[in-house]
Amino acid sequence: MQTKSLTDRDHEVIWHPYTQHKNKLPPIPVVRGKGTLLWDEKGNPYIDAISSWWVTLHGHAHPHIAQKIYQQALVLEQVIFTGFTHEPAVSLAERLLPLLPGDLSRIFYSDNGSTAVEVALKMAIQYWKNKGDDRKKILALRNSYHGDTFGSMSVSGRSLFTAAFQDYLFEPVFIDAPDRENIGQLKELLRRHGCEMACFIYEPLLQGAGGMHMYDAALLDELMGVAKEMDLLLIADEVLTGFGRTGELFAGNYLRNTADIICLSKGLTGGTMALGATAATERVFEAFLSDDRRKSLFHGHSFTANPLACAAALASLDLLLETACAERIRGINTQHAAFAEKIKAYDVVRDVRTLGTVVAFELSQGEDGYINPAGLDLTQKAMEEGIYLRPLGNTVYILPPYCTTKEELDKIYDFLEKYIKKARP
Ligand SMILES: Cc1ncc(COP(=O)(O)O)c(C=O)c1O
Repeated sequence: MQTKSLTDRDHEVIWHPYTQHKNKLPPIPVVRGKGTLLWDEKGNPYIDAISSWWVTLHGHAHPHIAQKIYQQALVLEQVIFTGFTHEPAVSLAERLLPLLPGDLSRIFYSDNGSTAVEVALKMAIQYWKNKGDDRKKILALRNSYHGDTFGSMSVSGRSLFTAAFQDYLFEPVFIDAPDRENIGQLKELLRRHGCEMACFIYEPLLQGAGGMHMYDAALLDELMGVAKEMDLLLIADEVLTGFGRTGELFAGNYLRNTADIICLSKGLTGGTMALGATAATERVFEAFLSDDRRKSLFHGHSFTANPLACAAALASLDLLLETACAERIRGINTQHAAFAEKIKAYDVVRDVRTLGTVVAFELSQGEDGYINPAGLDLTQKAMEEGIYLRPLGNTVYILPPYCTTKEELDKIYDFLEKYIKKARP
C-alpha cells in the first residue's frame, strides 16, 4: 500500500522536461482521460485546450485507437526493423504516402519529432555526399523550432532552449521567415549562395514553439520556388502542422511547390504513441542505392516502426479521414475566427491570428518571449476554471483536439475574454 501521494513520489524520483525543479509547482496527477477531458486524482476535469503538447487529435483514450493497439499487442508488439518488416509499418507507409503533398515515395520511421528531423537532415546531407557534391550549408529560419536533439537544435532558431549548448551546435545560414519586406532579399541570397546549400528546412506556415508565428503561404512558396531552381532539397517539418492542424491535411497543401522530405510525428498516431516518420522522394532514396555499403543511411532506433505505434497511426488515419472530422476541423476554425474578431478590441491583446484549428495572440504585458511570466498566471487561473492552457510566455494560444465541442470551445473563449478584460497592459 502506498502511503505517499503521487506528487510526493514524483518529487523524489522524476526529472520533468523544461522544468526548474527548484521552485516548480507540484505536477498535477492525471488519472484518466476521455475525449477532450483530463481528470486529476481528486476527480476534477480539465479541458485539454492544447492537445497535450499538440499531439491529441481525436481525444484521449479513443476506443477505436485503443482497440487497434490492443489487437496489435496480442499479435506482434515489437520486432527489429532491419532485416524484418511487418504489416502495420508497410500499410501505414502505403496509406500515408498518397496523402502527402508532392511526390513522396519512401517512409523512414523513428520515434518522435526531433528524430524525424534528424533523419531528414542526415538524408539531405548524405544525399549530396553520396552524389560527390560539396554542398554543405543548410538554410533554416530564425525563430524556428525543430526539436531538442543536437541536429534539430542546430537548425532551430537560437533561443533559451539552445543557449547552453551553443558551442556544440553546427551553424546553418539563418534567414527570417519570408514577409513582404524581405522576400526580395531572401530570393537574392538564395540565387547568389543557393548552389552551396544542401537543403532548406522550414516549419510551413506556422512556427509553433517560436510563438505560434504564422506567415504567408504565397511568400514561402516563392522562396521554395527559388530554392528548387537552385536545387536545394526542401525539408518541410510538418511535425506540428501535419494531420489537419492548419485546416488542410498538411500545410504543404497550401503550397504549389512541394517538399523533397517531410517530417511527421505528434498527430501521426492521433497523439497516442511515440512515432516519427520522415518521408522522402524517390530522387532522395535513389542517391543511397549503391554497391558501396558506406552509401547506406546509417540511422535507426530500437523502436523504429514499432508495430503498436504503426497500428495506432493507422487507426488515427481511419478517424482523420472521416468526413465528420474534416467538418469538425472547419467548425473549430469558424469558431476561432469569431473569437479572434471579438478580442481584437482589447488594448492588452495584440496580433490575433488564426490558422486552421489554432488561434493565437500576444498579451501586451512585459517583454515578449518564452520567459515572460504572464502565461504562468493565465495557466493557473485557467486550471481553476477546468481548462488547461499553456501559453508560450505571453503568447496565448488554443490548439484543441478535433473532438472539442462547441460548448467546450465557448467555455475556453469565455474564460480568456474574462481574463483579458481584467488584464492591464
Ligand atoms: C515543428 C516541430 N518540429 C519538431 C518538434 C520536436 O518534436 P518532439 O517533441 O516529438 O521531439 C516539434 C515539437 O514541438 C515541433 O513543433
